[in-house]
Amino acid sequence: MTHPRTGLWFIGARGGVAATATLGLLALEQGHAGHWQTSDGPVRKVPPARDQVGLVTAIPQFAALDFVPWRNLVVGGHDVRACHIADAALTLVHNGAIKLSLVDEFMDSLNQIESNIELGALFNSGQAIERLAAVEPTRRTARETVESIKRDLRSFARDEELERVVVVNLASTEPPTDVADLPERWEELEKLLDANGCPLRASSLYAIAALDLGMPYINFTPSLGASLPAIEELAVLRGTCHAGQDGKTGETLLKSVLAPMFAARNLEVMSWVGHNIFGNLDGLVLNDPANKAAKMQSKDQLVGQILGYDPQTLVSIEYIRSLGDWKTAWDHIHFRGFLGTPMTLQFTWQGCDSLLAAPLVLDLVRFVELSHRLGEVGVLSHLGSFFKQPLGLAEHDFSRQFSLLCDWAERHASPQSRRS
Ligand SMILES: NC(=O)c1ccc[n+]([C@@H]2O[C@H](COP(=O)([O-])OP(=O)(O)OC[C@H]3O[C@@H](n4cnc5c(N)ncnc54)[C@H](O)[C@@H]3O)[C@@H](O)[C@H]2O)c1
Repeated sequence: MTHPRTGLWFIGARGGVAATATLGLLALEQGHAGHWQTSDGPVRKVPPARDQVGLVTAIPQFAALDFVPWRNLVVGGHDVRACHIADAALTLVHNGAIKLSLVDEFMDSLNQIESNIELGALFNSGQAIERLAAVEPTRRTARETVESIKRDLRSFARDEELERVVVVNLASTEPPTDVADLPERWEELEKLLDANGCPLRASSLYAIAALDLGMPYINFTPSLGASLPAIEELAVLRGTCHAGQDGKTGETLLKSVLAPMFAARNLEVMSWVGHNIFGNLDGLVLNDPANKAAKMQSKDQLVGQILGYDPQTLVSIEYIRSLGDWKTAWDHIHFRGFLGTPMTLQFTWQGCDSLLAAPLVLDLVRFVELSHRLGEVGVLSHLGSFFKQPLGLAEHDFSRQFSLLCDWAERHASPQSRRS
């Protein structure tokens, strides 16, 4: 079947994850990607070809879904730094994450994509992000900021002749937003957009702009974005969908796999300590205590939620510049076994942050685009396995989250997933 052109709008388009996702997409579009081989009989498991490694949408469980082809995706975005998307890609080359030849091969396409990147907005974004930016914090009201974001999104859709646009938040992590006094209904929250001192931050204004235009929105960051009842209501009112929050790519992914094992074997976890060190731009922003607080909240909750009791936990995140995009997490889990004997599990996870995140971003775009095409509205809770703080889902056990996704896929296997 034919698919229309679909826009992919990255907020934070010149950042590490966005640049990696963009380059990955260009490689996939060129048909470098291999395939899981299928035959008339059962799916035959062969190792995924190199370009498909890390892509969840390439595994057999999702082979019957009618995903938008890579070549139909058109990239644009917002950023607040005055650089070129290729600069972020070259930083990854410098860090040893990707090869220079990949950047060279797609330089023309990167230049073209750069012309689709607009200057974004700072709004209560905090000093750590303001220090990076080429724009001054806006003097506009929240409503004027939302309207300006909408203009950019509309122009992108019109100029590129796109049937739909999926908006993905890949911007730097903002400090936590105080949500205690925020109204629960959209009708009330909307009035705040005109107020002096509107407490919402940029991530929520981007979410409001996208959802108000009926565009699906994905929040891959710990920033608040659409995670407010009033903004979720807006999504439903406009008949669109959203998913979030904070991509689960490394240490937290392992926590969501290992904690259920301790629970199932009735081993008592007494303490779980996780130290994370890395040195990319995201790490620099998270080095600010205000921004770090949002990430810590996101990483520290799930162990107690999975176990059903609260062991002592500690998460640390430190910026070590020399490590660049290479994150090391060292976790120490102290647990008690039979007859009360204490034991220890330790693991070290060393991964390239952007390369862990980028394929999941592309997967999420495909899943969310399909949900939108199928007319699904509101929070897409079946995508919980992708997130540290899954919206609309109280389940943190990775295998159960993944089963939900597989169940959803079974229900929507082609031909039911054909375009409406
Ligand atoms: N890499 C991972 O494994 C991973 C996992 C989960 C979540 N995340 C989150 O994804 C986000 C992106 O990570 P990254 O490594 O690409 O970070 P990055 O610092 O390389 O990129 C962030 C980009 O966002 C831009 N930006 C900041 N505020 C903006 C605004 N208001 N409007 C538009 N652009 C803005 C910055 O200029 C920068 O280019 C971060 O929030 C990070 O915490 C990353």
